[in-house]
Amino acid sequence: MNSAPDSIRSRVLTALAKVTDPEIRKPITELDMVSGVTVSDEGLVTVGIRLTIAGCPAAARIESDVLAAAESEAGAGRASVEVAVMTREQRTALTEKLRGGQVERSVQFGPESLTRVYAITSGKGGVGKSTVTANLAVALAGEGLRVGIVDADVHGFSIPGLLGLVHDGLAVKPTQVGDMILPPIAHDVKVISIGMFIDDASAAVAWRGPMLHRTIKQFLTDVYFGDLDVLLLDLPPGTGDVAITVGQLLPHAEVIVVTTPQAAAADVAERSGIVARQTGQSVFGVIENMSAMVQADGSLLELFGSGGGAEVARRLSVGQTTAVPVLAQVPLSLLLRTGGDAGLPVVLGAPDDPAARAILALARSMKTRARGLAGLSLGLTPR
Ligand SMILES: Nc1ncnc2c1ncn2[C@@H]1O[C@H](COP(=O)(O)OP(=O)(O)OP(=O)(O)O)[C@@H](O)[C@H]1O
Ligand SMILES: [Mg+2]
Repeated sequence: MNSAPDSIRSRVLTALAKVTDPEIRKPITELDMVSGVTVSDEGLVTVGIRLTIAGCPAAARIESDVLAAAESEAGAGRASVEVAVMTREQRTALTEKLRGGQVERSVQFGPESLTRVYAITSGKGGVGKSTVTANLAVALAGEGLRVGIVDADVHGFSIPGLLGLVHDGLAVKPTQVGDMILPPIAHDVKVISIGMFIDDASAAVAWRGPMLHRTIKQFLTDVYFGDLDVLLLDLPPGTGDVAITVGQLLPHAEVIVVTTPQAAAADVAERSGIVARQTGQSVFGVIENMSAMVQADGSLLELFGSGGGAEVARRLSVGQTTAVPVLAQVPLSLLLRTGGDAGLPVVLGAPDDPAARAILALARSMKTRARGLAGLSLGLTPR
């Protein structure tokens, strides 16, 4: 190997191009985070890096990755790293670059974007929207897709807990770079939630329409998700302000209606699909959650009855050119619930659990339509 300083320097630069910022998920060389590489006549390497902000949580990781990259070319103990912090101007240049040169902030994932946007809704509360959202997101990420979640349940946020993004009872805080917010990442899913901006875990967020609207809009403008294949929005129950805001900001989003097998739940579930259509969104399908569970003795436990998912799908198909499918039936599952309580989604913690299998199968079928504007049939029909 050529040990001339120039040759070492260019090899170090090549190695540094493989170091990524764990939050932004791009090479640090593309983020202008490498301020210089110098090589002494003796072949000792010094790499200067500048972090986006002081005390950036990823700092230690970036520094050790940079050192390892430099030592891989210079030799062990023959490299050092000098850490500085970006100036305000450098930070602004970076956020503009990440926004694709747009100075004006606009809502991401608009109609021109190739990201598939799914809003998870329900009529009734407590039917498992958030649990399904968290697991489906992790399952889609496991299929190799780039996935984000916007926890749009401003009052009753639960996504940080379901994904283990909690420390000492508080949701993990996102890093802020200028006016850009970097979403924390859990199980390969980028996540933003109002819970991440609250300092008192028991504090109630008592906001009315305009404030809710502004918050959701800020999530969609200021949070740097990068290019995603799929964005899931976890909505609060019912057809209130947040559902309407999401409908206005993301009219091309597709809605997934979650319901239980209970016949009585069908009416309200149907309504959430109808309201979504009024804002121009289409209904992608219905997930029946808390469906019959096979017990140890082989008998079926139908705690919430049966047929609710098919009934909602049937009703939402009336007058449509294509039938609304039942996308999945997710059975009652102890492990689904305990996985949520522990912050480890069942699709990762116990992938053979019947509820996990149902969600993993759905993720596989959604993978084929992950990107692009054309609708695809899943080959499922409502029964
Ligand atoms: N298939 C299932 N089997 C067993 N428990 C489940 C199942 N699905 C969800 N749960 C449990 O039901 C409770 C409600 O679920 P979750 O919070 O996901 O519902 P939600 O629709 O998001 O509620 P909200 O309307 O309050 O936002 C949780 O304790 C969750 O663990
Ligand atoms: Mg919820």
